[in-house]
Amino acid sequence: MNPGIKVVLGVTGGIAAYKGAELARKLMELGLGVQAVMTRNAEKFVTPLTFEALTGSPVIRAGLPEPGDDPMPHISVPRSASLMVIAPATAGIIGKMANGIADDTLSTMLLAADIPVIMAPAMNPAMYANQAVQENIARLKTRGVRFVGPSAGEVACGETGEGKLAPVEDIVSAVKEALNLKTDMDGLNVVVTAGGTREPIDAVRYIGNRSSGKMGVAIASAALRRGATVTLISGAMDVEPPTGVAFTQAMTADEMLNAVGEAFKTADMLIMSAAVGDYHVNGRSGGKVKKKEDWTISLAPNPDILMEMGKRKESQTLVGFAAETERAEEHGLEKLRNKNLDVVVINDVSRKDIGFNSDFNEVTIITKSGAVEKIPKSPKTTIAGKILDTALAVRDGSKPRT
Ligand code: PMT
Repeated sequence: MNPGIKVVLGVTGGIAAYKGAELARKLMELGLGVQAVMTRNAEKFVTPLTFEALTGSPVIRAGLPEPGDDPMPHISVPRSASLMVIAPATAGIIGKMANGIADDTLSTMLLAADIPVIMAPAMNPAMYANQAVQENIARLKTRGVRFVGPSAGEVACGETGEGKLAPVEDIVSAVKEALNLKTDMDGLNVVVTAGGTREPIDAVRYIGNRSSGKMGVAIASAALRRGATVTLISGAMDVEPPTGVAFTQAMTADEMLNAVGEAFKTADMLIMSAAVGDYHVNGRSGGKVKKKEDWTISLAPNPDILMEMGKRKESQTLVGFAAETERAEEHGLEKLRNKNLDVVVINDVSRKDIGFNSDFNEVTIITKSGAVEKIPKSPKTTIAGKILDTALAVRDGSKPRT
């Protein structure tokens, strides 16, 4: 599951249950982790396998947990999530929640949840208009439950009136609002590089580095959550690419140059957090070199991808990293100028508690106009947000936030 924000998607039994699957896909595209919970009746309309395939996680189903399962999903699942969305929500689940009835996994979870809840009702118009349903909805609204829809129109049974599940886009908008997801990167094509390149020495050996890909993946996830279309190009990584990115693996600097060069043509922003090897092996052997006393390897310089993109730059915003061990700011500024960057993110890679293969980083962000922002040691997810704030501010020509 994605390291980002988790949403519990409750699906109840109605013909609109299939739209829950579309909603799951759209939420995943935002870079959110989605945990689907289905009622017994929901499974009569759509199979749990559909949701499992879309979300990448087993569905939590009605009934008591099996031996070996989490014994208390009704407590642990909402606690690990930021939001519950019930779509479609039947009159039954609305009534249970309004009246404190907990008789299956989803209704129990709703009572145990201390997080915001969004409900998207879908039912026959006469049922929706029924006073009991309306009173239940009014009661839940006073407790802070947010309702999206239903819309008016022809429902599955052929009758017309208010009762259709709201458009999936409206439910997604409500989720974004509830989670305070920004949309300030809507419509932007963002290319992010991550991980470390590996230059082969022979058929089995290579020159690599300690990059885990965590920094790049945090940036890609943050850009996704802010509405960007994200291409992630990575070398070797210890983490999974976020769901929703267009992913390309490029193991050597040459492969990365080709992939980045292609993606750059239609990009609005390039953020190079990959640790690209500066050299490759001259005259690499196709087979495995036999063990010998001494072995001298000759290295030749790799292309500097970022510098090359700096030359090709038209309207793209170019963000580079500087991995330094001494006189970090001075060297970072040189990279900003020499590579024609808009923003440079400087980190000290001599420290073990930040930088390479850590969940944390501490960076100095400098823009081409000379604005300097120092971000103290923070999770890479926080650093990612700050980098995007600055890159966007530079792109918009406004002052970066401090
Ligand atoms: O992956 P993690 O474990 O999360 O670690 C994150 C990180 C430490 C790798 C990351 O924060 C970082 O510092 N990335 C840049 C690593 C690097 O190659 O730095 P550099 O100072 O050598 O290069 C400067 C810039 O030029 C970088 O944006 C780099 O991507 C780029 N470059 C470098 C060499 C090269 N041949 N081509 C390039 O494009």
